[in-house]
Parts: sequence; structure tokens; C-alpha cells
Amino acid sequence: MTETKKLLRSLAGEILPTPPIWMMRQAGRYLPEYRATREQAGDFLSLCYTPDLAAEVTLQPIRRFGFDAAILFADILLVPQALGAELWFATGEGPRLSTIASQADFDALKGKDDIHDHLAPVYETVRILARELPAETTLIGFAGAPWTVATYMIAGRGTPDQGPAHALIAENRPLFEALIDRLTEATIEYLSAQVEAGAEVVKLFDSWAGSLNGEDFDRYALEPARRIISALKARHPGLPVIAFPREAGPRYVGFARATGADCVAVDNSVSAPWAAAKVQVDGCVQGNLDPSHMVTGGPALVEATRTVVRAFAKGPHIFNLGHGITPDADPENVALMVETIRKG
Ligand code: CP3
Repeated sequence: MTETKKLLRSLAGEILPTPPIWMMRQAGRYLPEYRATREQAGDFLSLCYTPDLAAEVTLQPIRRFGFDAAILFADILLVPQALGAELWFATGEGPRLSTIASQADFDALKGKDDIHDHLAPVYETVRILARELPAETTLIGFAGAPWTVATYMIAGRGTPDQGPAHALIAENRPLFEALIDRLTEATIEYLSAQVEAGAEVVKLFDSWAGSLNGEDFDRYALEPARRIISALKARHPGLPVIAFPREAGPRYVGFARATGADCVAVDNSVSAPWAAAKVQVDGCVQGNLDPSHMVTGGPALVEATRTVVRAFAKGPHIFNLGHGITPDADPENVALMVETIRKG
């Protein structure tokens, strides 16, 4: 059968007349219908663990904008919670977790095969979406990459420079590496279960990859991604994988080849022409409009959108923002972006 889903065609290396489109955090607080469903759920984590409502917010941006892909509504921090960490979201302050500071903290974590009871509602959300999405829309599953998830588990919260995780590397590298290994193994099981439930593509979010330097980038960003991707592809032949080593800068070059990813997502700290020349030579690239245009709009949005489309037009491309859309964005600007891309 000839593939008809645009996102899957780009991931297979096809160059299309106009690129498939989706946005990181497309189900989010900038949409009034999201805010209403979140209120119905009570709080963010209840929304993640209530399959009907998580599926509903996943579908909202598809109905409104007709994106080519839906991303499962969940969070990268559900995996630490499934491993036994405490997780809560303090209003206005972002995520909080119990910390991993000692061998005893690590020893208390669950094993990679003991996460599925906790994560069963997420798999149910995937099953609902696989049934309900329009035939042309691709379903993307995801997980956080081990390094990024470890930074939250070690610090117990988001940090500007990932200082506590870097400190643990310096003070107790074996403990840090044991945590990376556990997360790598759990991520393989988690993503594999999402694929079995109906996810057609998976994406690995390494939001803090940019703070790993030199050999640490190879050991803790590249190597875990390579292990996860090769294990997933062994179990699910042909499964496309998108890797997002955010703010990797020059380390984006060769990342797809080194890890086996089918597509590398690039943030907007690199220019689209640079990424086209240096990264797209190896295959599909996803990105990379500055998300601030979704707040400001106008002719600058149209111009910047066209610049991204033109820069990547000679190779396989998935249009996206360079990072997640922010709560202060205007849905009208998203509609203008989509219209600008689709009218070619
Ligand atoms: O993209 C999507 O629409 C799918 C759902 C999704 C969420 N988080 C929902 C969410 C995805 C793919 C994520 C990934 C995620 N979560 C990352 C990696 C990507 C990135 O943004 O760098 C990270 C680092 C997290 C951890 C996390 N979750 C933080 C730091 C926060 C608080 C910051 C914030 O935006 O408020 C969250 C909460 C979160 N995850 C929200 C959403 C829609 C906002 C929660 C709310 O409704 O209040």
C-alpha cells in the first residue's frame, strides 16, 4: 500500500510539495478548550492519567488546525513517577520530584518491567487515539531522554543549568550512570508499550542535551538514544524515530547517523539554512520556527515561516517550532502559520 500520511512520508525521506505540520505542546494552555478540559480533570497530572480527557486534549488542536500529527498527551516525568519517585506540580512553579541523591535513593526505585501498571492509563489514551484520529493524521508517542529525565530526578525540579546533575557526575559517576541505565531500559519498555498500543512514530525529548559537553554528550545524550532506538527498531521493524537533542548546536551534525534516528528535530538557536546544509544531508529534519512568533504574529510571522519552509525545501522536512508553544500564544497566529505553509 502506498503511504498516504504526510508525516510518515517525510520520515521515509520523501520531499513533499508542502511539509507536514505539527507543534510541540500543541495541546496546551494557549487553547481555551484545553484550559476547560484541564479544569474538568482538576489538575495537570489527573489530566495525564484520565484517558478520555487526555485523548480529548490531544484531539483539540487537530480539530482546530488540521495538523498532520497528534502527539500523545502525557509528560516526560510520568516515567520517574512509575519508577517510584514522588511527583507533583506546584502551581506556577513547574514540576517537583523526590530527589535521587544517594545509592539508597536509587536502590528504592522500581525495575524497568515494573512500570506498566502505573502507566496503563497512558497506553489506554494511545488506544483511544489510534481509533479516533482522522485517517490522515499520524500518532506520535514520546518519552523524555534519559539525561533530561535524570536532571529532574536528581535536582527534584527544573534547573537553569542542570547543576545538580553535573555535580552528581563529578561526585559519583557510577551512581549517575546506574540512573541513566535504568532510565534507558525503562524508556525502551515504555515506548515499546506505546507502539503496541498504536503509536506510529516515537519522539525522544532531550531538552537539556545542550548542557552536556564533549565526551559527556557522547556518553549521556548520544549513546542512550542509540541504545533506545536500536532496541525499539529490533522489536518494531520500520518504526520511525524522531530525536530532539535540544540546543545541541554543532552536535546536531551526524546525530541521526550516530543514533539511527530517522529525523532530528532542531531548535531555533540554529538557523534553518545551517540545519539544512549540515543536518538535512543525513535525512529528515524537523523544525524550527521561533515559538515567539506565535505570540507576536503579523508579517514577521509570515516572513519567518516562509524562510523556514524555503530553507528546508530541498530535503525531507517536518514543519515545527524550535520549542514548545507558550501559554501566551494567540491561536489566530497558529492558524496564520498553517495557512502560510499550506498555500505554498
Ligand atoms: O507536546 C505536547 O502537546 C504533548 C504533551 C507534552 C507535555 N509535556 C505536556 C505538558 C510533552 C511532549 C511534554 C514534554 C516535556 N515535559 C518536556 C520536554 C519538552 C520540553 O518542553 O522541553 C519537559 C522538560 C517536560 C517537563 C514539564 N512538564 C515541565 C518543565 C512542565 C512545566 C512547564 C510548563 O510549561 O508549565 C510541564 C508541564 C506540562 N507538560 C504542561 C503541558 C501541557 C503544562 C501543564 C499545565 O497544563 O499547567
